[in-house]
Amino acid sequence: MYDGEGRPGRNDECWCGSGKKYKKCHLAEDDRLQALYEAGFEVPARGLLKTAEDVEGIKRSAAINVGVLDMVGQRIGPGVTTEEIDRWIYDYTIEHGAVPADLDYEGYPKSVCTSINEVVCHGIPSPDDVLKEGDIVNVDCSTILDGYFSDSSRMFCIGEVSPERRRLVEETKRAMEAGLAAVKPWGLLGDVGAAVNEYAKAQGYTVVREFGGHGIGLEFHEDPFVSHVSEPGTGMVLAPGMVFTIEPMVNAGGCEIDMSDPNGWTVRTADGSDTAQWEIQVLVTEDGAEVLSW
Ligand code: MF3
Ligand code: CO
Repeated sequence: MYDGEGRPGRNDECWCGSGKKYKKCHLAEDDRLQALYEAGFEVPARGLLKTAEDVEGIKRSAAINVGVLDMVGQRIGPGVTTEEIDRWIYDYTIEHGAVPADLDYEGYPKSVCTSINEVVCHGIPSPDDVLKEGDIVNVDCSTILDGYFSDSSRMFCIGEVSPERRRLVEETKRAMEAGLAAVKPWGLLGDVGAAVNEYAKAQGYTVVREFGGHGIGLEFHEDPFVSHVSEPGTGMVLAPGMVFTIEPMVNAGGCEIDMSDPNGWTVRTADGSDTAQWEIQVLVTEDGAEVLSW
């Protein structure tokens, strides 16, 4: 095939481990991908198409990720330090037989990213960061269970926040949802980022270009890169079985970012404006999309 993988015979077992004959399983999808490739489209390699077994494993991992963020939502509030959030998440994840994917990832020192106000992403939990009334914070959590990865993040408003901050948080969620609505089997990935960017721009916001979503499942970060500022009608064909994140970072001010923090991780808006992010993990299905973690 286009990706160098061999094809089973029509009556042989499918490559995906379903136990079904190839002609009753992935043959039609493979034919369609091959034809799209020959027509000049960017198509996912077979390694990006999750098998039924993979999807079950990713869903078990994702259930823990959702549980973590639900737990954080019940406890977070004024006076909590981001270090405490890190400890809650580490303990919950380990107690559920999983491991935080962030911990030791490329040297990252904690189990979660906690990004407050003007921090775009990769805020590192610290006993010095005490959440106070009026803050907005993104808690970005990732889990490994039995080798399967999941990843999602939510915004939390601490106590009463200003109308401007509340609107940024709510509209960023809607921008993410606009991206989700553009996920269609046999559609194009560029339409997803285009929908996000169009929605955010219409609210008077800007979208961070340097960071995006990503394929996920058997690794933390797989292909494709999911830009949130892509052009419609471009990008990888979305085939059933793909799993990726949509995780726009939306700024109240300009889209430029500042990556000069000496810790090597924490990213801020260049102009110090507020920023928000929501992240979901999505499976492309035969007839639409299924959100696996949020
Ligand atoms: N969770 C982030 C993502 O959405 C990645 C964080 S990597 C870390 O892809 F090392 F900073 F934790
Ligand atoms: Co992610």
